[in-house]
Amino acid sequence: MSTDLPQPEPGAPAASTPHKRRVRYAGKNPRRFEEKYKEHRQVGDTVAKVLASGKTPAGTHRPIMVAEILSVLAPKAGEVAVDCTLGYGGHAEKLLAALQPGGRLLGLDADPLELPKTEARLRALGFGPETFTAHRTNFAGLPQVLTAAGLAGVDLVLADLGVSSMQIDNPARGFSVKDTGPLDMRMNPQRGQPAAALLAKIRPDALARLLVENADEPHATGLGTALAGREFATTSALGEAIRRALPKVSRDEAGLAVRRVFQALRIAVNDEFSALGTLLLQLPQVLNPGGRVAILTFHSGEDRRVKKAFEAGFHAGVYAEIAPEVLRPSAEERRENSRSSSAKLRWAKVGLKSGG
Ligand SMILES: C[S@@+](CC[C@H](N)C(=O)[O-])C[C@H]1O[C@@H](n2cnc3c(N)ncnc32)[C@H](O)[C@@H]1O
Repeated sequence: MSTDLPQPEPGAPAASTPHKRRVRYAGKNPRRFEEKYKEHRQVGDTVAKVLASGKTPAGTHRPIMVAEILSVLAPKAGEVAVDCTLGYGGHAEKLLAALQPGGRLLGLDADPLELPKTEARLRALGFGPETFTAHRTNFAGLPQVLTAAGLAGVDLVLADLGVSSMQIDNPARGFSVKDTGPLDMRMNPQRGQPAAALLAKIRPDALARLLVENADEPHATGLGTALAGREFATTSALGEAIRRALPKVSRDEAGLAVRRVFQALRIAVNDEFSALGTLLLQLPQVLNPGGRVAILTFHSGEDRRVKKAFEAGFHAGVYAEIAPEVLRPSAEERRENSRSSSAKLRWAKVGLKSGG
């Protein structure tokens, strides 16, 4: 991945963009990622059009359920927050503003490619090191980050799980179902094994189990047999093999199967359930009395884990209050940002005295 791609600032006024000639493509719209970046950089009103169509401009990420998250976390001046999944910094920016004066936010992310860009973006918005610090780490290591920062606990924790639009939309990262790229899928490309290596080594029964556990895949047995132990260099080669393995299902169902297999592999490659499980276990120790946590999930495997952990914490008296039901994005947000459609938000609060 090119790390020097242009990074627009959030809310940068389109009117200040000097007029340049429109970028030319082979077709009506930009198809390749690099072309989308050129559009982004050169034609101000194109960004508005992309947003109006419910999509996300290349190289950015639209934060989801911001108002709901601010309402349940209720950040106050002087409090200390952790954003476990900093991404583009959309949620962090709003939290940081609400924590002033005197508050601070620690932003964690496993991605060494996007984190420096987000850190620079938040610095440019005026958040200095006394207010905001960026930490390249898995959120499973949150207690160690707090110890190193000299903090015994924090008031707010946010986790917005999964991958960012910058990661999904960049084919070089290997998450993309739409554009071809190396079959990688690592949030931190310097660690672990790419999805291609996992598929090349795994046995059919183990792959079938993984597809069920990570994505509730109904065609898991057939796909396990068709895909396990094979070498796939690119995301499109895997996509085609999945479609070929399902000759009797409709085009739409095959497309959904491709998405589910990609999701299942991404979760496995990044050990996502184990990181989430560790975070859920650690929350009661890292939250100060009166502390709040909000977690945004994007599929049933994640939501189940969060729901169970919060309910168990509530019954054990660790949490004084938990979300009575899951919160979903408004119809308007789902229309305006198609990537918000599967989001589910849950929250929990620690009592003012420890022990609920
Ligand atoms: C959905 S995005 C977050 C977007 C962010 N809330 C925003 O407003 O821009 C998820 C981010 O979390 C990171 N991430 C996912 N799992 C992680 C983990 N276990 N530890 C650290 N970072 C993680 C990904 O690299 C990605 O940047």
